Amino acid sequence: MEENDIILIKLGGSVITKKDNPLTPNSEAIKRIVKQIKTLNKKMIIVHGGGSFGHYWSVKYDMHTKPEPYDPYGIAIVHESMIALNQIITNIFIQSRVNVYSFPPMVFMKDGKPQNEKIYEISEMTKHGIIPITFGDVIHHKYNNYSILSGDSIMSLIAKKIKPKKNIFVVNVDGLYYNLQEKKIIKEIKNKDLSLVNFKDNKKTDVDVTGGMKRKVKEALSITSYGLEVIFVNGLKPLEVKRAITGEDFIGTTFRGI
Ligand code: IPE
Repeated sequence: MEENDIILIKLGGSVITKKDNPLTPNSEAIKRIVKQIKTLNKKMIIVHGGGSFGHYWSVKYDMHTKPEPYDPYGIAIVHESMIALNQIITNIFIQSRVNVYSFPPMVFMKDGKPQNEKIYEISEMTKHGIIPITFGDVIHHKYNNYSILSGDSIMSLIAKKIKPKKNIFVVNVDGLYYNLQEKKIIKEIKNKDLSLVNFKDNKKTDVDVTGGMKRKVKEALSITSYGLEVIFVNGLKPLEVKRAITGEDFIGTTFRGI
């Protein structure tokens, strides 16, 4: 498929939930982002993360991205928590008359692999005013194995198939920093050149089973390798999110497609 005018957006768990409080949405932050999205008339697909919902239970039941036969109660409760978070988000969108249509990743994944026809069908829905929304979740693989599929991984597998012209990761910082001491943002990354970034001080937190910022950058680079643009922008600054979507000058990091 040719590059198309859909915008793929991932709402990070650290924006849409209060990461330090288990099972607590950040409804105000969600509302502020929805308010900005409502002002735009763009084709979009939205993915959201787990934050203090999915990650909370995944950590408790020792569930990871590797397919294994995890505790059935863990599988049930992780999935339920993601459905609950998705319902909160979906309701906020619909109350604002932003017409999202939600589905869990099992709709477009089979035995851990993306089903391209389903992903294509989802992209077709954007043509007539619907915004498909999905989320990181626990998914089933063959032989009773399950794994945590992160929203970031969903971003790259959707991007690979439908080639959205912009792929936006809405995070809780202003972008990718050169290092965490100075908090200076890298405005643009070309040619996958990450030699300037110091990941050493980027600690993996104990509430995140899918790998934090480093993992996000890995997914961003895989998306750029399909020739597509990736953006990191701060979701706690919703005007910047809007600017990133519309193409105005914004605070954040742009990874150019190569
Ligand atoms: C995690 O998705 C989903 C589960 C833990 C079930 P993400 O890894 O994309 O979530 P965030 O955005 O980092 O919170």
